[in-house]
Amino acid sequence: MGVPKLNLLLNWTKERIPVDFQELKSITNEPVPNHLKHWWFALGGTPAILFGIQIVTGVFLLFHYVPTPSDAYDSVTKITYDIRFGWFIRSIHKWASELMIVTVMLHMTRVYFTGAYRRPRELNWMVGVLMFFVTLGLGFTGYSLIYDQLSYWAAMVGTEIAESTPLIGPLAADFIRGGSEVGGNTLTRLYVFHVVIFPAALVGLVVVHIIFVRLQGVTEFEFDEEKKLEHKTFPLFPDHVLTELLIAILILYILSMMAVIFPAGLGERANPLITPEHIKPEWYFYASFKWLKLTNVYFGILGQVAFAGIILFWPFIDYLLIKWLPKKGMSIKIGFIGFTFYLILTVWEAMT
Ligand code: HEM
Repeated sequence: MGVPKLNLLLNWTKERIPVDFQELKSITNEPVPNHLKHWWFALGGTPAILFGIQIVTGVFLLFHYVPTPSDAYDSVTKITYDIRFGWFIRSIHKWASELMIVTVMLHMTRVYFTGAYRRPRELNWMVGVLMFFVTLGLGFTGYSLIYDQLSYWAAMVGTEIAESTPLIGPLAADFIRGGSEVGGNTLTRLYVFHVVIFPAALVGLVVVHIIFVRLQGVTEFEFDEEKKLEHKTFPLFPDHVLTELLIAILILYILSMMAVIFPAGLGERANPLITPEHIKPEWYFYASFKWLKLTNVYFGILGQVAFAGIILFWPFIDYLLIKWLPKKGMSIKIGFIGFTFYLILTVWEAMT
């Protein structure tokens, strides 16, 4: 295409889509502080990439998955053994979900231990916590769709646990089950949560989260001043965007390796009449499962609701702690104890 024709096409497009790209570039292209060159500090982009991979692979799975108790297991079997590359897409979806949870946890840990949730970023921390809960919800609902013995009974136990929550428990459990018993309605609801409600909520929350990051900028850390880096920055586009692209390629490579070496398996067909000897949820619920086994159900759930509340409102609790006990480094100590406790419970449950 000659230059005049290209200009003609550009003008044609500009007339119909009157966006000033120069202005758009200057609005979106903020300089990024130098410490975001380290993956540890720019970890937030990684779960975002994984979420994108989940949407694409999830849509492929939707072409073949049938959300009814009689056909769900057979459709997963078909995806795994009959559909061309079905096993690969399913395995990528499974491993990306696990990696997404790991990287959200790592991102949260980095934000926590660097105190990046403090004023004025309290609300963005809360948006982040909601994203964490939604990500766990995606994991739980996705696992229960397989409809093999383990996933069926994990869903069963999950709804029973929800039922024991004080005040809202029975109502919440009936809502998730679509009645008083686990059955066809339950699978439909878990399916709707997994493919519509949770993904839509996560997209909305990610948008709000990024708008907050854009409005507030990322935290400038003291070590930058100590090293006299004098607020060195680099451009978001193309530098940061290209780094994220490289990370995306690396992630796709790792996921492909995991899919080939450890393809997603399938247990026996769900049987509501036979309870398996060992009911196990996904590994990220091990700590919560162990905690429930160690305490009684009522206190176990009350403890977890309290824990969720503490995480959600942590920036404000931390504010009070700093006011009452200044220079004691309480957040680091509490964070360290909480993190170790979670790890111990997880490993303990994994070993039993
Ligand atoms: C799907 C999940 C998430 C995505 C895609 C995401 C994305 C991001 C991105 C791209 C940033 C910019 C800096 C960076 O990369 O670290 C960021 C910053 C931040 N995120 Fe997240 N995030 C997620 C979950 C969370 C969670 C679970 C929390 C906390 C509970 C959280 C709290 C924050 C805070 C407070 C910042 C500002 C950090 C600073 O100023 O240094 N995010 N997030």
